[in-house]
Amino acid sequence: MLKGKTIILGVSGSIAAYKAVDIARRLIRDGATVKVVMTSSATKFVTPLTFRTLTKQSVATELFTENSKSKICHISLSDEADIILVAPATANIINKTANGVADDLLSTTLLAADVPIIFAPAMNSKMYLSEATQKSLNRLKAFGFRVIEPTLGELACGEEGVGRLAEVDTIVEVIKFETAKEKDLKNRSVVVTAGGTREEIDPVRYISNRSSGKMGYAIANELTKRGAKTTLISAPTYLPTPQNVNFISVSNASDMQREMLQYFDKCDAVIMAAAVADFTPAEPVSKKIKRNKTGNFSLKLKSNPDIIKELGRIKKKQILIGFAAETEDLIENARKKIEEKNLDLIIANDVSKPEIGFEEDFNEVTILNKKGIVKKVPRMTKREIARIIVDKLVDVLD
Ligand code: PMT
Repeated sequence: MLKGKTIILGVSGSIAAYKAVDIARRLIRDGATVKVVMTSSATKFVTPLTFRTLTKQSVATELFTENSKSKICHISLSDEADIILVAPATANIINKTANGVADDLLSTTLLAADVPIIFAPAMNSKMYLSEATQKSLNRLKAFGFRVIEPTLGELACGEEGVGRLAEVDTIVEVIKFETAKEKDLKNRSVVVTAGGTREEIDPVRYISNRSSGKMGYAIANELTKRGAKTTLISAPTYLPTPQNVNFISVSNASDMQREMLQYFDKCDAVIMAAAVADFTPAEPVSKKIKRNKTGNFSLKLKSNPDIIKELGRIKKKQILIGFAAETEDLIENARKKIEEKNLDLIIANDVSKPEIGFEEDFNEVTILNKKGIVKKVPRMTKREIARIIVDKLVDVLD
């Protein structure tokens, strides 16, 4: 099941380091190539020779070595990896990674990596529950890293509490799950929209909304990571352009519709996270509008095209996923939209709640299909929500 996968196993200095030997053994048994990177404190608990004998690979411990080959070690390691597992992950490596500190081989490898990273923490419960470590773990999750929560039990220090490394079985299962789904959208083509459209009033003014694009960009990133050929049609945002996507920049709803129709025929799915303006100025003007004598100004608006509704009308085999941004009757309104727009799934979010929805890094959603609620997703980062939405897309595509 792990045949052909290269897993970097980062081992940091905890008494649980001896369990990393079992993890390596199990991953190799399932067909993986395991390359171990140890921190200097980890080598006090288990010797590099143990891992070298088991993995039949050299064990990396030093950032600077005399006889390094042509490639820089921390870069080449992450380039070769399909996934990186840090187990056990101490408070030190967690807090360092969350703050971008790169002062040894493991932390530098983590900073340079652009593959999925999984942390399995193990430490004293006071260290684990400390505000600093908890904040760092939340940050790592927000970066899109996965954390396999430690369990309750007797700790090496003799105390009882949370902080024991998760079971080896659990860790190996997570690795199998993450590597299996990694490219589960290979050969699929998906179009995503993001951001708030700008409807021009005159050359200097426009009507728009609070969409930052974060939700749509997180979905585009997740799709790319999982092998999909991804087109991102984006209204203006302040976000960096995601890597490896076909990026189309648009301004208003009509532009977005025009670009969407270019790609729709050949795609397998569309996910519309964009906040498309329902109305646009009826008569945009080419010169800046001046104040008049009365000091009043009224703007006549006309309806914009409902892009996803039109796609729902013309679709053949494509899977259509829309969002419902609601401030009241969340589920009821989402149900109406999935029917009216002929969607396969709708992601309902309550944009009146503080700290989720527009502009925030977090969201809380309910996923529905035409039969009803598929999944309620509690507040979590948009990256995590993107992963769940893409999981659901995969289920529907299969
Ligand atoms: O961008 P962020 O700051 O991260 O915020 C994320 C978000 C709140 C914008 C996102 O989660 C979200 O809810 N996006 C949809 C916003 C919206 O326009 O919702 P709606 O309920 O008005 O529209 C329903 C669906 O129809 C949406 O998929 C929308 O893209 C689509 N639509 C709407 C109007 C229109 N003229 N054409 C459309 O295609």
